[in-house]
Amino acid sequence: MFTITFSHTASLKETSLIIGIYEDNSPSLAFEKLNKELQDHIKKTLETTTFKGKKGDFFSIIAPQGTDASMVAFIGLGKKDLLSFNTLEEIGGNLLAHLYKYPYKRAAFHTDGINTRDLSLGESTAHLAQGSLLRSFQFDKYKTKKREEAKSQIQELTFVLPSASDEEKAKKAFIPLNALAEGIFYARNLISEPANVLNPETYAQELKSLEKEGIKVTLLGEKEMQKLGMNALLGVGQGSSKESHLVIMEWNGAEKTKKPIAFVGKGVTFDSGGLSLKPTESMVDMKWDMGGSAIVSGLIKELALRKAKVNAVGVVGLVENMPSGTAQRPSDIVKSMSGQTIEVLDTDAEGRLVLSDALWYTQEKFHPEIIIDLATLTGAIIIALGSEYAGLFSNDDILAKRLEEAGLEVEEKVWRMPLHETFDKDIDSDIADIRNLGTPRKASSSTAAQFLLRFINNIPWAHLDIAGVTWSNKDKPLYGKGATGFGIRLLDRFISKHYEGK
Ligand code: BES
Ligand code: ZN
Ligand code: ZN
Repeated sequence: MFTITFSHTASLKETSLIIGIYEDNSPSLAFEKLNKELQDHIKKTLETTTFKGKKGDFFSIIAPQGTDASMVAFIGLGKKDLLSFNTLEEIGGNLLAHLYKYPYKRAAFHTDGINTRDLSLGESTAHLAQGSLLRSFQFDKYKTKKREEAKSQIQELTFVLPSASDEEKAKKAFIPLNALAEGIFYARNLISEPANVLNPETYAQELKSLEKEGIKVTLLGEKEMQKLGMNALLGVGQGSSKESHLVIMEWNGAEKTKKPIAFVGKGVTFDSGGLSLKPTESMVDMKWDMGGSAIVSGLIKELALRKAKVNAVGVVGLVENMPSGTAQRPSDIVKSMSGQTIEVLDTDAEGRLVLSDALWYTQEKFHPEIIIDLATLTGAIIIALGSEYAGLFSNDDILAKRLEEAGLEVEEKVWRMPLHETFDKDIDSDIADIRNLGTPRKASSSTAAQFLLRFINNIPWAHLDIAGVTWSNKDKPLYGKGATGFGIRLLDRFISKHYEGK
């Protein structure tokens, strides 16, 4: 367990004392104060090192005589002018990653003097804390032996502010940020679960428990979906022994008359490829082929926790794509809920089949103002954009721009990719309305998006292909290796900027 606290009166006994240092020598009041108390000792020590306060750099010394602390450590803040809520979060994240390497259970970060141009000290401190909290996430529930070093690792990080009113401000600003982190952790946990634990049935039950947060949750099983004619989605799950589900989560935080904004997620709990079976090397990653649905669920949870003033609906299609005697065959033709028929040429191009019915259902049922889907849809988007950008496809320039901007602000970047008539022609089928495959190895992220567009009924729509950004093989400031939670901070920002009427 890792906890964050705020205080203006923390005692230093047996804690690590953390001080921020700017790269451009801007004064960090906590530093000046400590340095003075210790007769310039710290300044002199630092002058003998290469530590210059570069953003996220870390340097520690044994606590000098005259302090109660167990260690004194310095975290680089970069240039004061470049400080933003986002860089603060990164600094907080980096700090925590460093603290994990030391055998001290408590640390106190004195933040006096660390604030951006437009945020108060309290608010800035809350963002530092948010970064540390996000980085503290670990998926270790299946480790039966707690590692020795973990027992003495950092468990409590206190942010020390100069006055009681600063402390209050930080605590207040931290409330929605904490809610956001909870939503992100919810998604990361779902994404990290193996597919023998998280299947469409257990997943649907888990989402049902979001009702305790004030979210209306509706589960549709296979019978209900058959009645609605959702054969595209059902076809993907028909080879699995687990029942497919559609889960609808409604958060109503604004007036009833206000149209909702809608989020739709691909929730393939395991994508073996079906009869178009994947080779083992690419199959091992496919427990996180439900990433889009986890982001949608975490987002709706987060909106509820922070009581966002918005009406939002999340719809996730939960299926397991398995080969078996009942599995869908390459060349099968299914009739989707929209009435359009689909020739299934490759059972591994299953995400678009799930989304086609989920998107259609969401528009018919809720008439949303906008619709955004998230999906680990194509391997090709990883080839195109790597793990730095998610692919963005949209039929609406304003919506696309807003998503691009929000992405830049929170460092969850999206890059707009093309839709085009020729890609649309590519998915015309010879014997049905649409085929689920374009020309092999040609613009397959775009033909996949174009497929989705055939199920969009004249409303602003955006599709985020998150195949490259859902799982990380590298440590980053706000997450270690594993599930990233990419998309929640982006959409939270997008919603609070454009839909909460502030
Ligand atoms: N779930 C995969 C896409 C994927 C690949 C996500 C790697 C994350 C990491 C998707 O269902 C898929 O198999 N897509 C195929 C489509 C092809 C058959 C047109 C692909 O990208 O190869
Ligand atoms: Zn697939
Ligand atoms: Zn898939």
